Amino acid sequence: MSFYITTPIYYVNAAPHLGHAYSTIGADILARHHRQRGEDVFFLTGTDEHGEPVALAAEREGVTPKELADRNAARFQALMPRINASNDFFIRTSDPRHKERVQAFMQRVHDNGHVYKGLYEGWYCPRCADFKGENEIAEGNTCPIHRIPLDREEEENWFFRLSAFQDQLEQLYATNPGFVAPPQRFNEARSFITGGLQDVSLSRAKLTWGVEVPWDPAHVFYVWFDALLNYYTALSFGAGDHDRTAELWPATLQILAKDILKFHAVIWPAMLLAAGEPLPEKLFIHGYLTMKDAAGEDVKMSKSLGNVLDPFEVMDTFGTDALRYYCFREVSFGQDGAVSTAGFESRYETELANDYGNLASRTIAMIARYRDGVTPDAEVDPALAADFEGLDGDVVELLDRAEITQALERIWQRVRRLNRYVEEQAPWKLAKDPEQAGHLDTVLRSLAEGLRVVTVLLHAYMPETTERLMGALGQDAGFAIDTARFGAARAGTVTPLDPPLFPKK
Ligand code: MSP
Repeated sequence: MSFYITTPIYYVNAAPHLGHAYSTIGADILARHHRQRGEDVFFLTGTDEHGEPVALAAEREGVTPKELADRNAARFQALMPRINASNDFFIRTSDPRHKERVQAFMQRVHDNGHVYKGLYEGWYCPRCADFKGENEIAEGNTCPIHRIPLDREEEENWFFRLSAFQDQLEQLYATNPGFVAPPQRFNEARSFITGGLQDVSLSRAKLTWGVEVPWDPAHVFYVWFDALLNYYTALSFGAGDHDRTAELWPATLQILAKDILKFHAVIWPAMLLAAGEPLPEKLFIHGYLTMKDAAGEDVKMSKSLGNVLDPFEVMDTFGTDALRYYCFREVSFGQDGAVSTAGFESRYETELANDYGNLASRTIAMIARYRDGVTPDAEVDPALAADFEGLDGDVVELLDRAEITQALERIWQRVRRLNRYVEEQAPWKLAKDPEQAGHLDTVLRSLAEGLRVVTVLLHAYMPETTERLMGALGQDAGFAIDTARFGAARAGTVTPLDPPLFPKK
């Protein structure tokens, strides 16, 4: 079974920030989870390099668009291993192989009769690289996202006949309620469509930084057409030594934030229909990470507003796994939510260092002290086993719906349960009473087993920490999801954790 997952491709007009890391980590958690399920996973991320925003930024900096793209694409590429993203490929839309495939695809759209030449006039945001509809213009003709004045623009363009797909798109949303999640975003996308679709500009004549329109080389494609196609073109050259489009297309799951919903939920399926290609199975739309601005208001973290949290700095202090954990613990995937340095520190201390790190250190230390480092081969405690019953199934089901935060909460409930178990059983007291030796065996085995199960399930979230802990528990069976059953593994020989998993700061 194949599982093809994508993130948006990021603009190279500035450096990466935590918002970009967030989408990529979310997709990575799901990619890793599906690998744990033994599926043929392909995970794609990359950079969106053409278009006016990049051309303008390059002009401001006195470099060519290509130079700017190379410089910033390298920063995004460097971000991926740093956040432990396990992407199988990193696409850059300036790649000539991508351009060729875009041209071939769009030629099909042209030959199928879905484009025409016309005059466009409208309010245009150079940062969004988008003409705004009447209901998308903020006060004083400004962009509601970037808060900058919009330009009145007019030009001769090629148009994509989006309006011709009105019925097919309505049909798609009527018959496929899972096409966009969460439901609120599904409804939003559907109302764009039922509101009536207008044709959209497909090319730009003023710009040279882009993919040339093959039937009219004086134009380049409007950047969104070139960008959306990355999800499709990458499979032909980025997925190994042969073209894997037939094996991997359509995408199983596409992750993005609500800022680019319209492009993905309306224009993208219409483009695919226009070329006769199957549609992605599902789009999952997450919310914004917000931070307080100078006035104390929670606003979207974005490079143009300047209120960004530098993921590199955060990782230097707390480690990559802590960042990965925090983002999905603090903000429910799918909703907006505020992040802060104080929030990081508090969750790091109470949840990672105490709940999980301390549990691991104590469990291993007790096995070392009371049983010479060998986890007793005793029966597991049936009461604790009952509390773990169904956990793996719940996590799988939640992650099938991309409910990353909810799945993490279920796992964390068991981490807390294990901490309570230590307090209830007080192994240090049992150790003093030789008659309780059998019971102590059960308690230690059960703790090690509980810890192992949560660690298998946390692997997708915190790959480094969980590798280390599995090693320390003397387990070498890997992280296959069907090993996440309480009582399923044999006991191992433990090694003390030094330093602890999450050292106190
Ligand atoms: N290049 C386009 C996308 C093309 S996809 C075919 C683009 N790029 S972007 O650099 O602006 O990235 C937007 C995406 O980055 C969002 O959809 C989201 O995935 C992520 N985020 C950027 N800022 C974010 C937050 N503050 N919070 C959450 N996600 C954020 O749009």
